[in-house]
Amino acid sequence: MFITFEGTEGSGKSINVAWLAEWLEEHGHQVLTTREPGGTEVGEKIRSILLHCTGSPSAQTSLLLFEAARSQLVEEVIRPALASGVVVLSDRFTDSTLAYQGYGEGLSLGHIGMMNNIATGGLTPDLTVLLDIDPREGLARRLDSAEWNAIDARELAFHEKVRNGFLAMAAAEPARWLVLDATESLQYIRERIVARLALWQNERKG
Ligand code: TYD
Repeated sequence: MFITFEGTEGSGKSINVAWLAEWLEEHGHQVLTTREPGGTEVGEKIRSILLHCTGSPSAQTSLLLFEAARSQLVEEVIRPALASGVVVLSDRFTDSTLAYQGYGEGLSLGHIGMMNNIATGGLTPDLTVLLDIDPREGLARRLDSAEWNAIDARELAFHEKVRNGFLAMAAAEPARWLVLDATESLQYIRERIVARLALWQNERKG
């Protein structure tokens, strides 16, 4: 099973990815967690260009770099893990590119869809958890973090377009997405994820 977590900055993806990995392991699964951009040596180098390069890569250049990092991650890490029965959890995946470079930057969603397809060889998540939060609140949470980066620093209107993009994608494909209010308690969020996984397992059995 391949599960991705998506959301705007400060939505609590990484803490919930770490929790779900532990929960799945306690329930007898082998789990691999990864993040985008990054997750491989090549990808982590690309990540530092994207998030910390002062040379301001253009939207189009960023798109190509995100896809290059993804291509390496899918080939080197995700596909081999899935093939050996490991549950893979990824902090961001293809939907981030549609949300940020597509809805946010205004690059063609059709082109990004094609590029996602090339980078992943058509691999799509079984479940995508969207942790939805008002960007004002999310960015305020992030301000205290050492991880502040060039994308966080974009204007509020950009982050709002990204958020609305995620919500539009989730509404268009409800079978794959689980949308959760990221301002709810961790306990509530986790109960909803567990309930969704149980439903998914029952559907597969049935
Ligand atoms: P990161 O520090 O990992 O932020 P977060 O904790 O919010 O995931 O930085 C990743 C940034 O890269 C984040 O702002 C979203 C952005 N991004 C894109 O713009 N396009 C993409 O395809 C991906 C994977 C990430």
